[in-house]
Amino acid sequence: MTECFQSFQVLFKPEVKTTLTIKAPSLLYVNGDAHRLNQLLSNFLSNAAKFTRTGEVELSMEEGQRNLDTNKVEIKFAVRDTGIGISAEALKKLFKPFVQVRQDIMPRRRHIF
Ligand SMILES: Nc1ncnc2c1ncn2[C@@H]1O[C@H](COP(=O)(O)OP(=O)(O)OP(=O)(O)O)[C@@H](O)[C@H]1O
Ligand SMILES: [Mg+2]
Repeated sequence: MTECFQSFQVLFKPEVKTTLTIKAPSLLYVNGDAHRLNQLLSNFLSNAAKFTRTGEVELSMEEGQRNLDTNKVEIKFAVRDTGIGISAEALKKLFKPFVQVRQDIMPRRRHIF
């Protein structure tokens, strides 16, 4: 997470203050899909860089509920920016499932991009 945050510093305008906040007092080590997490955070950080001219961008991580039976813990990640924002109307159009036309003729994917 720290590496991902640092690698994005070059994309932010000098007028933008960036902050990394980690609130996970009891977490030393967790198992998870680091590659997917990196992809998600990279997408959110690149959007924050693209749509924020001045102000600040914060990447945060917060420890949530812990289930002692399954030994799983919820971790909340967030990217907050003071950029142009997204109107309530526009927000409804986002996060719709992605669909590809004619999946039957799509070549089987061999690499992950
Ligand atoms: N941090 C943000 N602030 C304001 N608008 C945003 C932010 N993040 C996303 N959006 C809006 O949501 C849209 C969809 O974001 P998405 O990352 O899918 O596409 P994109 O950034 O425009 O293109 P790409 O990521 O493919 O280069 C953006 O075009 C923008 O309108
Ligand atoms: Mg984007």
